Amino acid sequence: MDDAFDELQKMIDEDMRRIYSEVTINHAMNPRNVGSLKDADGWARYTGPCGDTMSMWIKMSGDILKEVRFSTDGCGTSAACGSMTTELAKGRKWSEALEISDVDVLRELGGLPEDDQHCALLAATTLKLAISDHLNRRREPWKKYYERR
Ligand code: FES
Repeated sequence: MDDAFDELQKMIDEDMRRIYSEVTINHAMNPRNVGSLKDADGWARYTGPCGDTMSMWIKMSGDILKEVRFSTDGCGTSAACGSMTTELAKGRKWSEALEISDVDVLRELGGLPEDDQHCALLAATTLKLAISDHLNRRREPWKKYYERR
């Protein structure tokens, strides 16, 4: 039974490696920066056209994104994209992080099959919305006392 299971697992792994890059598999299996941030300076939740949702939290140090975290109820590819997006954004100025696009995420992951590419857009869009939330809070700091997450 164990041998059959190991053989099946090997076949699944080989299939996955034919479709996804090592970087994508690594980020999907060991996603970085997962979870929420207490007292975040910016937050967003976004549902993509596929129906999957991603949330992202950012903590600022001046203009720099000091910490970025995410969670998703989406596919393994969305976890890889959220993971890569948070890694790309961390340590950057908000104005630079705002420029991170799905194309950047796809490039850093080593590409994704066409059917999975929208997962990168989900992650990049959620980051933009979290930064935008932060900028709104800067303009109207009193609003944080009324927010509901
Ligand atoms: Fe919906 Fe990947 S985010 S399928």
